[in-house]
Amino acid sequence: MKHIDIKKIFDGSLVGQKVTVCGWVRTCRDSKNMAFLELNDGTSLKHLQVVIDKSVMKGYENCTALGSAVKVEGTLVKAVSGNGVEINAENIALLGECPPDYPMQKKKHTMEYLRTIPHLRVRTNTFNAMLRVRSALSYAIHRYFQQNGYVYVHTPIITGSDCEGAGEIFRVTTHDWNDSYKTQKEYYDADFFGQKAGLTVSGQLEGEMAAMAMGKIYTFGPTFRAENSNTTRHAAEFWQIEPEVAFAELPDIIEIAEELIKYIINAVLTECPDEIAFFDERFEKGLTQKLKNVVESEFKVLDYTEAIDILKKSGKQFVYPVEWGCDLQTEHERYITEEVFNKPVFVINYPKDIKAFYMKQNPDGKTVAATDLLVPGIGEIIGCSEREVDTEKLTAAMKERHINVDEYKNYMDLRKFGACPHSGFGLGLERILLYVTGLGNIRDVQLFPRTVGDLK
Ligand code: 4AD
Ligand code: MG
Repeated sequence: MKHIDIKKIFDGSLVGQKVTVCGWVRTCRDSKNMAFLELNDGTSLKHLQVVIDKSVMKGYENCTALGSAVKVEGTLVKAVSGNGVEINAENIALLGECPPDYPMQKKKHTMEYLRTIPHLRVRTNTFNAMLRVRSALSYAIHRYFQQNGYVYVHTPIITGSDCEGAGEIFRVTTHDWNDSYKTQKEYYDADFFGQKAGLTVSGQLEGEMAAMAMGKIYTFGPTFRAENSNTTRHAAEFWQIEPEVAFAELPDIIEIAEELIKYIINAVLTECPDEIAFFDERFEKGLTQKLKNVVESEFKVLDYTEAIDILKKSGKQFVYPVEWGCDLQTEHERYITEEVFNKPVFVINYPKDIKAFYMKQNPDGKTVAATDLLVPGIGEIIGCSEREVDTEKLTAAMKERHINVDEYKNYMDLRKFGACPHSGFGLGLERILLYVTGLGNIRDVQLFPRTVGDLK
């Protein structure tokens, strides 16, 4: 069906010409002589007004129901009011009717209700804008890495190892347990892969292997965590971007992370001004200015030990008490970024006992060369570290965590054959999207969210 995107119509270059557009009816106003339809085809947040002269055009009445899919031919003209454009319809055809039980008729639904109809909520302005920002953000992430010489690698989704060592893995199997298996080993031996398998929680370990050949790589794909945490920031399936850089130490990778975040936020500001203005108005007042400030600011780098001092001296009653050695909870992270620094903060040198086995141990014997990037309103958006390359230290860290070293033979080989300092991080796409849109719940930045007890 030859037609023009509504986004293209809005650039004004076709004024005076005959055009054909397709879209869904978003509003309809009827007056004595005229009818006005607003169409949206998903290419733009703005709706296109279609002007129908009732004295000339017959048979338009079946095209006015909200949600109907229609095709309009007409002449594009300057709008009678305002400085936009509109179409004087000459022909209008119904492509798909939309009966009155269409749930999106009502002007305003709550976000909670919309989550019950994920297949239809994409038709709201909010989801329309979110998905366009998500797309632009993803493209900007690829552009940043591609322009800087990184190789995009696809790490496996089905894996036999647990990168984060936290055991929050979804199992992949083709058969159920039954009593004919005498031992777990017998059961796993008989399974598809002949061993225990699961969905990846992170592509890092394989990413490190690729980086040991390609120098600079990044992954960008789905990761899965069976965390039973029902929060606004945890999803069971989320997209992660994981660069891994050979010959980079912690300060180097921090620089890269900061540059990436600024680059992609700037890209969204430039490429999605209507969407950001929409979110600014509807979801987070001052969003545009916040994002501009981030692009211009210098992120704070704060030692974990200093962070603990700040929290202890804050005089605040936190739900989770603060002691050196504790993991920072969202309430702590938000206090630091929102109330103390009011900008993104890299907290560095966490206690080694609360972090993953693969992180490089600092000479103090207590901390690791790791950082989380915390942002106001969200908390952690990036988990990052330099990797441990000393085989003995790495083995000891694995044993302390009851990790079976034999299952990580390939990973250990990286330390044996041409090992070098290297670092990487994981950026959660949904987390940065929450930050960039001001939306408050991870369930609203995914097309079909997967969270505990919810698989629509
Ligand atoms: O801090 P995490 O667990 O780090 C890793 O997975 C490392 N292997 C990354 C690396 O060094 N290559 O996760 C990284 C990021 C978090 O900062 C967060 O943004 C996001 O992934 N994330 C989640 N996002 C949504 N839902 C969840 N359940 C998430 N868990 C982590
Ligand atoms: Mg983390």
